[in-house]
Amino acid sequence: MLGNFYIEGGVPLRGEYRVKGAKNSALPVMAATVCRGAVYEVYDCPRIGDVFAMEEILRYLGAHTRWENDCIIIDSRGVNKYTVPEDLMSEMRSSVFLMGSLLARCGEAVIHRPGGCNIGSRPIDIHVSGLEQLGFEIEAEQEKIRCKGTCRGGKITLTYPSVGATENLMMAALSGKGDTIIENCATEPEISDLQGFLRTAGFQVFGAGTDTIFIKGTGRSCPGPEQMMYFILEDRIEAATYMSAVMGTGGKAVFRNVRAEIMEKVLCTFEKMGAVIRRYGNTVEIQSTKRLKSPGMVITQPYPGFPTDCQPQLMTLCTLAKGLTTIREEIFESRFTHKNELAKMGADIEICGKNAIIKGSSTLRGAEVEALDLRGGAALVIAGLMAEGSTVVRNTFHIQRGYEELEKGLRTLGGIIETKG
Ligand code: EPZ
Repeated sequence: MLGNFYIEGGVPLRGEYRVKGAKNSALPVMAATVCRGAVYEVYDCPRIGDVFAMEEILRYLGAHTRWENDCIIIDSRGVNKYTVPEDLMSEMRSSVFLMGSLLARCGEAVIHRPGGCNIGSRPIDIHVSGLEQLGFEIEAEQEKIRCKGTCRGGKITLTYPSVGATENLMMAALSGKGDTIIENCATEPEISDLQGFLRTAGFQVFGAGTDTIFIKGTGRSCPGPEQMMYFILEDRIEAATYMSAVMGTGGKAVFRNVRAEIMEKVLCTFEKMGAVIRRYGNTVEIQSTKRLKSPGMVITQPYPGFPTDCQPQLMTLCTLAKGLTTIREEIFESRFTHKNELAKMGADIEICGKNAIIKGSSTLRGAEVEALDLRGGAALVIAGLMAEGSTVVRNTFHIQRGYEELEKGLRTLGGIIETKG
């Protein structure tokens, strides 16, 4: 269903919001339930399109799943396939994680090459090269990638700290004959969350959060609990998205279930723009009542740098911030799809290679715009809340892939936003 958001701008957002579980933690954790047959209760799992797509794949592979409120219960004991069909792969490219978990479980995996998307070609060469270095046989055909064998263990170094490749290789190495050390790993909090899940499941994985991860090879037999519970990490990108909406509308809000330390670069950028932020425990309070200032130059980088998943939301804020801002997108090659849509609302943005140069103006005017990808779509919703007049954001299915009831959450903060169609 395509779906549209209808937004009335100009209302300062105020109130309290509890941050949900992280999409980018739930997806690898769900894939990891395949590594060893057991019953997994995964709490704080967001009810979003990508999670439902991953759930469908797990069921296809032979797992049983059911929901109890925000907990998905996955019984992976019945997994009896190792091929992920094309139609399910195309639903959600992150199913590439299943290569690692299927190799850990049964030593074989066949996936369809995950397609690119609106933000970039999304290659998986680092995943494939890592698996080959670990001793797996790879047959990379035009559309399919077949992978089988046993991890021999050893030390491998990633050419780039890819989040997905780090997670995939962590899982593939679990059933190794020998131990594995992965160097130049991604250090995102979601990697640490996957490690936490794997250790709760009985595996021995150490070092996540640093650039070097150690995985003890267990062969094919890994003792572990028949049933376990796990609570997903909070979604720092969802938190940053809502905070951007509060800042952009000159509001004030308290965010529960979010630790400042996993989003410090974002919060420091917001403070540079004039937001007043209080951090206490797993609560962050943000207030922004006057016109924002430009943050100057912001470059997206691997964690703990400024996250690429917050770049579109920041761009929207900068359209009304005083001064000239340069945002350099270093992670994905075409993650400025929202620029033309923001321009329809009066934003003054020039793209020059990897750089977006944003000249802060005084107002945005409501318009009819189109969501072209997940975070760009969320950025347009924020723009609609900041603009004068009415905005329609079309193709909100992109947004529903990664945000659970975004319109409902914004309404609890006083935003005027309805979904129709
Ligand atoms: C994860 O994607 C996230 N997705 C992305 O979030 C996030 O933007 C990204 O990490 C960076 O933080 C999930 O966790 C499900 P990468 P991933 O591998 O794993 C290149 C969102 O909006 N690369 O770190 O695909 C790649 O093309 C999504 O929630 C290779 O060249 O990110 C990109 O330019 C978007 N070869 C860069 O590395 C490879 O084999 C970063 O990719 C793998 C990646």
